[in-house]
Amino acid sequence: MISRNLCPVLLSLVTFAVTLTTSSLVLGPNATQPCVCLQLKLTTKKALAMLEEHGGAGRFFLMEQRGVVYSFSSELSGQKLFVNMTSLIEYDADVADERGLLSIALHPRFSENGKFYTYSIRKFNNVQYAYVTELQEVFGRVDVSREKLIMVIQQHNVTRNGGQLLFGNDGYLYIFVGDGGLRSTAQNMSSLLGKVLRIDTDHAEVADNLIRYYSIPSDNPDVSGLREIYAWGFRNPWRCSLDIGSTRGDIYCGDLGEGAQDEINLIQKGHNYGWDIKEGAICNNHPCNMTGLEGDPIFTYNHSKGPAAVIGGYVYRGPSIQNLTGRYLFADMFSKNFLYTLKNSSGGQWEENHLYYCDPGVCPCHARESVGEDYLVSFSQDRKGEVYLLTTKSFTGRSTDDRILKLVSPNHDFTVCQASSHFSLWTTISSVVISLAVQALSKNYFHIL
Ligand SMILES: *[C@@H]1O[C@H](CO)[C@@H](O)[C@H](O)[C@H]1NC(C)=O
Ligand SMILES: *[C@@H]1O[C@H](CO)[C@@H](O)[C@H](O)[C@H]1NC(C)=O
Ligand SMILES: *[C@@H]1O[C@H](CO)[C@@H](O)[C@H](O)[C@H]1NC(C)=O
Ligand SMILES: *[C@@H]1O[C@H](CO)[C@@H](O)[C@H](O)[C@H]1NC(C)=O
Ligand SMILES: *[C@@H]1O[C@H](CO)[C@@H](O)[C@H](O)[C@H]1NC(C)=O
Ligand SMILES: *[C@@H]1O[C@H](CO)[C@@H](O)[C@H](O)[C@H]1NC(C)=O
Ligand SMILES: *[C@@H]1O[C@H](CO)[C@@H](O)[C@H](O)[C@H]1NC(C)=O
Ligand SMILES: *[C@@H]1O[C@H](CO)[C@@H](O)[C@H](O)[C@H]1NC(C)=O
Repeated sequence: MISRNLCPVLLSLVTFAVTLTTSSLVLGPNATQPCVCLQLKLTTKKALAMLEEHGGAGRFFLMEQRGVVYSFSSELSGQKLFVNMTSLIEYDADVADERGLLSIALHPRFSENGKFYTYSIRKFNNVQYAYVTELQEVFGRVDVSREKLIMVIQQHNVTRNGGQLLFGNDGYLYIFVGDGGLRSTAQNMSSLLGKVLRIDTDHAEVADNLIRYYSIPSDNPDVSGLREIYAWGFRNPWRCSLDIGSTRGDIYCGDLGEGAQDEINLIQKGHNYGWDIKEGAICNNHPCNMTGLEGDPIFTYNHSKGPAAVIGGYVYRGPSIQNLTGRYLFADMFSKNFLYTLKNSSGGQWEENHLYYCDPGVCPCHARESVGEDYLVSFSQDRKGEVYLLTTKSFTGRSTDDRILKLVSPNHDFTVCQASSHFSLWTTISSVVISLAVQALSKNYFHIL
């Protein structure tokens, strides 16, 4: 999923170094800069997705990498087990595993037909595959043994699995597949690896005398290769989303680079996004033949400051933080004190700004969490357009108090929150202690300089 094949020990060393150099910034810069507050919504175990049902009971679904999906009421309470696929999938909670259950997508008419789709890494005859499957909720129950295999794609390694599923405005299922650990696959049009695929899950088809539980949309691009391919040239697309406020149905994607740059792409039909000829805007092969690489990233950033792993997010469409409307929010797993925002300026240029986490003192009393040293691994968006951060305490799957944090507008009124319970009293005291400690630390830090 996230890391760039670094072994866990190296990762933790690097993490330690990153922690040291950024500790004076954990609470964000100062109150005069645009910033956003964080409200704790749920505590989980390495959740990689949270979705809200459209219509029906308006439930939320929370997907954990180990293979479990829970349902919640529309108020995010009343947790119930929805699906348990742990026995089917490959996932090792003791290491920084990129496999597991990586995505679920609800059918656009899920509240009527109960159908949803999963993307997971599994083993068959000791070979690893990305499985795309269809499951169905019938009378409140999901029978995993009745899942339908939509697509099975062989992987060449345990990393670069891609793993996003989403339904576009057109009602088709988009599947974002990594290069599977073999870089030559992304430009190979006979391979499904390193591609964005688009299929119609509502119409089965007979192909090579076998029933296939999807068909190819008639307007898929003509790529002289596999007809599922919608766009190509990806290394490891991690977190792609549909802009729910765009009538055109814009889809944004983060794509993790190898060693130099990470990128954000706006996915267009029939475009080649360049991997492994180029990475971000940088050429990989010399001399570089850029002919036909029309999929230019809308944003790239260098890895010059150490480890990096882009986490694609969402275009903010919520009613509560007006300054963020229409901005694409994303993050880097190793940049812990800010989010990136991209805005399409009038000239068609993409303008990037950092959005910091507010000092808790300027936040509403219910929204005074900080990301601290946790890692952001994914984002979520509800039907209103509000955005949530999915964070984890460790690269392994062993922490049980990973958090889902909702972005909330600051109120800048500097009120001291009432201690309505031991918990909030503790939060208030600890935030004061932490900010004093951070101030002391940053003073020391500057003394040393
Ligand atoms: C707050 O941040 C702004 C913008 O970076 C900077 O100009 C200003 O000096 C900062 N103020 C304080 C009190 O640190
Ligand atoms: C939001 O926008 C208003 C004006 O549009 C501006 O005054 C305010 O400083 C902005 N707030 C943040 C947090 O960016
Ligand atoms: C999921 O199923 C496995 C066995 O297949 C079981 O060990 C585990 O406890 C179940 N998890 C949950 C959350 O029910
Ligand atoms: C899988 O990736 C790791 C890390 O990049 C590499 O050491 C290993 O050789 C790869 N395995 C295969 C089968 O390509
Ligand atoms: C392209 O992919 C196909 C299917 O995996 C494979 O058979 C073929 O050898 C690949 N071609 C190259 C040039 O790697
Ligand atoms: C450059 O790439 C294009 C598109 O793949 C190809 O048609 C062309 O022959 C290549 N040119 C060279 C000099 O390799
Ligand atoms: C990013 O890296 C490339 C290649 O290493 C270099 O040419 C470019 O100047 C760097 N850009 C920034 C903003 O550091
Ligand atoms: C960005 O802005 C340009 C110029 O206003 C417009 O043509 C284009 O459709 C916009 N793109 C997106 C993704 O909003």
